[in-house]
Amino acid sequence: MTAEAMDSKAFYDSLVDELAARRNAQSDVEKSFGGHRPMGRTELVEWLQFQCWYEREAANFIGSWLADTPEPEAFFGLCQQVADEGRHCKLVLSHLQTLDASMDGWVPEPEWVEWVQEFYAHGADTLERVCAHNITGEIGVMNAFEGLRPRIPVATQQLIDKIIPDEDFHIALGRMVVHRYATTAERQDRVRQRVWGAFALEEKGRLAFDRRLRASAGAA
Ligand SMILES: [Fe+2]
Ligand SMILES: [Fe+2]
Repeated sequence: MTAEAMDSKAFYDSLVDELAARRNAQSDVEKSFGGHRPMGRTELVEWLQFQCWYEREAANFIGSWLADTPEPEAFFGLCQQVADEGRHCKLVLSHLQTLDASMDGWVPEPEWVEWVQEFYAHGADTLERVCAHNITGEIGVMNAFEGLRPRIPVATQQLIDKIIPDEDFHIALGRMVVHRYATTAERQDRVRQRVWGAFALEEKGRLAFDRRLRASAGAA
């Protein structure tokens, strides 16, 4: 337990700097989906299916928080975010359909369920929920998009270009919540636990994606 609280803005900046440093130290398959290999159709469809599911799950768990979000600015921001994640889900699903693929019969890996449906969904309050998803999660999505961009077709690059401005807003919402509410040592400790807990599960989730690709390549 830290004895004294840091200034909440300095605290946020230190978290984001440490996240960047830890991501830099990761292996390729932890940094992005499927490492740095060019994406063939199978890999592309697998990533889009994961992304479609993730966007839907984000809309679900953020929506489930709304009745228990007493902070007005956080409530307004999260209402917008539910709409955004729903729109992303629709955009990704439409893109899958242009590739003659769908979500029919699709099943997530157990690591993805633990990371997204269990860990992200279940923070104790607005601060715990938003710091895990809107700091670790949303910055992680942006990093993944950067890693994917050179490996995907132009039409898929255009898809992520439609999503990125919203994710910037979601990151800003996480920053605002930490600036306003992570003002005591106890709260800052809880934020650290959630941010690093999410980071560890994200690593496991991306390794599971790589395992899934190798299994499907082996089956083919
Ligand atoms: Fe999204
Ligand atoms: Fe988002």
